[in-house]
Amino acid sequence: MNALVELHGVSKRYGSAAALQPTDLNFARGQTTVLIGPSGCGKSTMLRLIIRLLEPDSGKIKIDGASVSSSNITEFRHRVGYVIQDGGLFPHLTARGNILLMARQLNKRIALDELCALTRFPAQALDRFPAELSGGQRQRVSLMRALALTPKLLLLDEPLGALDPLVRAALQKDLKEIFQRLQQTAILVTHDLAEAAFLGNEIVLMNEGRIVQKGTLGELRSQPTSSFVSEFITAQRSLALT
Ligand SMILES: Nc1ncnc2c1ncn2[C@@H]1O[C@H](COP(=O)(O)OP(=O)(O)OP(=O)(O)O)[C@@H](O)[C@H]1O
Ligand SMILES: [Mg+2]
Repeated sequence: MNALVELHGVSKRYGSAAALQPTDLNFARGQTTVLIGPSGCGKSTMLRLIIRLLEPDSGKIKIDGASVSSSNITEFRHRVGYVIQDGGLFPHLTARGNILLMARQLNKRIALDELCALTRFPAQALDRFPAELSGGQRQRVSLMRALALTPKLLLLDEPLGALDPLVRAALQKDLKEIFQRLQQTAILVTHDLAEAAFLGNEIVLMNEGRIVQKGTLGELRSQPTSSFVSEFITAQRSLALT
C-alpha cells in the first residue's frame, strides 16, 4: 500500500461555514505533498483533522491502513511531528528544553548533535531561549523538536512563513535534503507556488474548502482544470515579477 494517509469523504464545518467540503485524498508514503491555496481555503484545517486536533463531521481518516480512534490516539500522536504556523515554541524553555521535552516524556534517546547537524543549527545556541534566537533559528528548533520523535508523518504548517528570502531559500534547500535523506513522509502547507514546486512531489491546490487540482506544477500549468487554477498560477507569477 503506497498511501500513508487516506482521507475518505472527510468534511468539517464551523457553524454554518464549511471549512472543508467532503474530501477524498491520499498522501503517498515517503513523499512530500504540498497544500497550497488562498487564505482560508482549509489548509490548516486539513492538517488539524489529520492529527486529530479536530474531529471530522463526516468521513474517515486512515493512517497506515488503520483508523485513528480514541483508543490509539495518544500512540498515534507520538508518531506524528507537527510544526504549527508560528512555530509554537515554549518561551520559558531553552532551545534544548523545547527539543527534548516531548522526547523525554517518551523516554526516547535523542542525538541532539545529529539533529543540529541535520538542520544546521549552531549547537552553542541550544541553551538560548526562543526570544534570543533569530526567526530562522526558531524555525529550525521547531523542526528539530518534530524530528526528535522520528515521526512516521511530519505535518508542517507554513514552516518558513515569516523568513527573509535568503534564509528561506537556504531552509528550503535544507528541508528538501532532510526529507530525501530520511525518506520522510511530509505534508507541508505554503502560500508560495515556487516553494510548493521545489519541495513537493505533488501539489494539492485548494480553494473554498475543496481540492481544485493536484499534480506537479507542470501539470497544473499545462492542463489547468479550471480558470481558478490558471488565475492562481498567473497571480503568483506576476507577484514574483513585480
Ligand atoms: N475555530 C474556528 N472557528 C470558526 N471558523 C474557523 C475556525 N478555524 C478556522 N475557521 C475558518 O475555516 C476556514 C478555513 O480555515 P483554515 O485555517 O483551514 O484556512 P487556511 O487555508 O489555513 O488559511 P491561511 O492560509 O490563512 O492559514 C476559514 O474560513 C476560517 O475562517
Ligand atoms: Mg493556515
